[in-house]
Parts: sequence; C-alpha cells; structure tokens
Amino acid sequence: MILEFARNFKAPELERIANLPLKFHSYGKPLPISPDPFWITYYSNRGSISFLRDCSTFMPEFAEYTTEFIREHTGLIIEEDKINFIRTVGSYRPHIDTSRSSAINIGLSGADNGITRIGFSDSYDDFVTKYEEYRIQDGSAYLVNTSNVHEVEADTKKTVRYLVTVAVHEEFKSLETKIREFANGT
Ligand SMILES: [Fe+2]
Repeated sequence: MILEFARNFKAPELERIANLPLKFHSYGKPLPISPDPFWITYYSNRGSISFLRDCSTFMPEFAEYTTEFIREHTGLIIEEDKINFIRTVGSYRPHIDTSRSSAINIGLSGADNGITRIGFSDSYDDFVTKYEEYRIQDGSAYLVNTSNVHEVEADTKKTVRYLVTVAVHEEFKSLETKIREFANGT
C-alpha cells in the first residue's frame, strides 16, 4: 500500500517554510484567512499536523522542480498548484483521508522520526492486526494509499517532520501499475 519510487529528491531551504506562522483550525469552524502563507494546523491528542498549501505562489521554482521530479520518475503530470507541504509534531491517530484517494509524499526533514502504519483496507477493525509499516526517509518519494486506514507514531515530539504532499484523485492500484510500467519502459 506504499510504493517508493525515487530517492534523490532535493529539499528546499527549510527556513523559508519553518518560520511561517501556525494558525489553528477546528473542523467545522471557518478557515483562518491571511494574505500571507501560513501553516493551517490541527491538533490531535498526541501531536499536531499542519498543511502549507499552494507553494507554487511563493516558491514557484520549488513547485516546478517537484512536478518535474514526479514526472521524470512516474510519468504522472501534476499541476504545480497541487504541491503542498506537511509539518507534523508527534503522532497522528488512525484515519482515512477523505479528500483524496492517494498521495505522493516526499520526505524533506525529520521524516524518519516515526513509523507510518498503513492497513490493507478501509476497515478500522482489520487495521488493529493487519498493516504494513515503514519509515519515510528524507529525500525519498512514495505513492501512498490514503484510502486505507493509516497512522503515524512518532519516536519523539522534539523533531518536527517536514514532507511534500500531493493529493492524487486516482486509486492506488491503478497508479501503482502506471508507475511500475513507466519504470519498466512499457
Ligand atoms: Fe492521512
């Protein structure tokens, strides 16, 4: 339910994004608004997860590099405004992403500070005993099945994890087949 497809991604200057403000949001409440980029942040009982959307407007060269990197290694065409960042502190409980079928995640910094577990279906009952687990590595790019139950268990809350994330509205299996065929040149 995860496919590593490349290992040589070059992270941008992280101070650029690490110093941006966090604005907190509760599901169901209005979204915070600001003309300047910010991390929209959700707390869980064991940590927090923040998203920095549409990096193409303030880091256009990085967005271009990332879409080109993905195209080169997968053949997939991603629009530059779909390149977002994730920042996580601590752990994140088992969940299913409701807004996307699959994701491309790329480790930037501290990504290996935690174990990602991903189930084989959307069943929370099955997830208790059946899952695969891995550590995302900085510089590595993955296709992840976010329609299945998944969680992150951090080793420590002291290390902030930064990743690129791209939502893909296509099922994991079909994307996995496309990427493998692309890699084989078929
Ligand atoms: Fe998720």
